[in-house]
Amino acid sequence: MREGDPGDTFALLIEGQADVTRVVQGRVQHLSSAAAGSILGELAVLSNRPRTATITAQTSALAAIGDRPVLLQLLDHPIVLERMRHLASARLAHDLRPLPVTLPDGTPILLRPLLPEDRRGFDAALHQMSPDSLRRRFFSPGQPSQAMVEYLVDIDFVDHFAWLVLDPAGPGRGLASARYVRDAGDHGTAEVAFGVVDRFQGHGIGTFLLGALGVTAVEAGVRRLVGEVLEDNAPMRAVFAKAGGVSSYAEPGVIHTEIDAGAAASLLDAGLRQELRIATHDIVTAASLALTAPGPTDARD
Ligand SMILES: CC(C)(COP(=O)(O)OP(=O)(O)OC[C@H]1O[C@@H](n2cnc3c(N)ncnc32)[C@H](O)[C@@H]1OP(=O)(O)O)[C@@H](O)C(=O)NCCC(=O)NCCS
Repeated sequence: MREGDPGDTFALLIEGQADVTRVVQGRVQHLSSAAAGSILGELAVLSNRPRTATITAQTSALAAIGDRPVLLQLLDHPIVLERMRHLASARLAHDLRPLPVTLPDGTPILLRPLLPEDRRGFDAALHQMSPDSLRRRFFSPGQPSQAMVEYLVDIDFVDHFAWLVLDPAGPGRGLASARYVRDAGDHGTAEVAFGVVDRFQGHGIGTFLLGALGVTAVEAGVRRLVGEVLEDNAPMRAVFAKAGGVSSYAEPGVIHTEIDAGAAASLLDAGLRQELRIATHDIVTAASLALTAPGPTDARD
């Protein structure tokens, strides 16, 4: 499969290995390796767009090839559909190039979705946070458990979405992240959480990230963001207040705040909102890609 070609077929890799590459600024970039059991090329088939990567077999390989009617038939199976929704979002998130943003105080940052393979960098950023910041973030001092870190990078982009802020001076270096996790019983509500490494706090990153989460949430159909913060966490409460958050005590010492996702998005100027909306639309709506793709009888390719 070649980048740029029309995507009229997908492949199920049954045996062997394949490399997934893309040309970035004239150079071939290795994106991932696919092993037996992988589905390849399905996004282009579903979205009717040219292929966004090249797939090359690295060993002798056996693959089953199908066209759109076959893919849509497979998607009738609820388990396949569920897996595909998450896979599609994850692939689109990988595809997104970091977005350069200048904060109101002139600080340049890069923004992209947090990916499961960011685990090490994420852990390194946690180690740059002071005990007090960790206490405010996790409600207990010290580093979170490894199981917690696993959970925090186990992003599915549908129910659990996170933005990562990178330092343009060292693009591998994470400075902050913010996430929402959708309420299992109410898909229109999601809980948010933030973490900014200490030396970058107070530059507007928290405010920016609440705005970015708001944009993504609206795209994903989340209307209400909720957050639980310690009563002494003045910076987080100040950020929530900027988006018109309504607060009440959840328990002594802990404040529960509810924020309209659209109001959070309004923290960003219209141009940036639009840029983020375009950047994330496909990721957060990949869940419905399979559902909105034309049926087999409409397929013309
Ligand atoms: C809370 C946190 C995410 C905020 O991020 P940030 O990048 O520092 O936030 P911003 O710079 O956008 O805004 C902070 C605001 O708090 C205000 N603030 C800071 N200290 C304050 C205080 N003691 N009292 C009142 N307001 C205060 C700042 O003035 C700023 O508002 P302004 O932009 O109107 O001046 C960050 O400080 C952090 O990661 N803290 C540790 C982890 C945490 O608390 N997570 C939240 C729990 S989920």
